[in-house]
Amino acid sequence: MDWGMQNRLNKLIQKDGKAFFLPIDHGYFQGPTRCLEKPAETIKPLIQYADALMLTRGVLRNCVDPAIDKPFVMRVSGAVSVVGEDLANESLVTSINEIIRLNASAVSMSVFVGTKYENKSLTNLSKLVDQCENYGIPVMAVCAVGKELEKREARYLALAARIAAELGARVVKTYYCAERFEKVVDGCPVPVVIAGGPKADTQREVFDFVYDGIQKGAIGVNLGRNIWQTEHPVASIRAIRAIIHDAFTAKEAEDLYNQIITGKTQQ
Ligand code: 5RP
Repeated sequence: MDWGMQNRLNKLIQKDGKAFFLPIDHGYFQGPTRCLEKPAETIKPLIQYADALMLTRGVLRNCVDPAIDKPFVMRVSGAVSVVGEDLANESLVTSINEIIRLNASAVSMSVFVGTKYENKSLTNLSKLVDQCENYGIPVMAVCAVGKELEKREARYLALAARIAAELGARVVKTYYCAERFEKVVDGCPVPVVIAGGPKADTQREVFDFVYDGIQKGAIGVNLGRNIWQTEHPVASIRAIRAIIHDAFTAKEAEDLYNQIITGKTQQ
């Protein structure tokens, strides 16, 4: 692997082989998302516990201090909205010049396997890989299932993840599924990170799926709303970090979370 590519991947995937990305890109199709109305305020107490941010160029330029000591994964697909016709009809919205100018450690874009726009999004992925590989910039494919949550099952996720890797993604982000998640990871020749999805009913649910996903081979998470939309975002991010980087079980993470929110462990 070329030095530049390896160096960028090393910034994102830590020495223990694990990765914890904090996404704040949701506004790109859903506008001022709850708890993300002012991204700079949302990330302020959290950023120290994440390995990298995931965001668009607009939020990067306007809400993130260029002196920040964290790498970022830049979302470069979009041009759709929640009130539009079809969320799967994304285009590539950021040029390779911008990606280099802004110093992205990686870029991400969504692919929509099994939709009307499957071919378009997969072609976009291939084009982005061609451009980014020229400059040693890794592409993370986001295997989206949109509103069709029934597609959150191993057979579909494994298909989408494998196709994304075959087309050149260096990292694949996919949803977790309770049954046979190992099929998704084992069938994907590049590292897999787990997406969070809509806010869960309890924090323990989140700790459980993050723990199980890591046990089954995922290298980490790209998890947003289940951190910054929760009642205790700092406790939440610290507990999830402990599962990813300190080999905590879900129960140990829950104990840490409870200690933090009751003031028994320093905030
Ligand atoms: C949207 C994204 C988000 O980054 C991703 O869904 C992770 O955020 P959350 O944990 O809130 O779902 O790529 O397509």
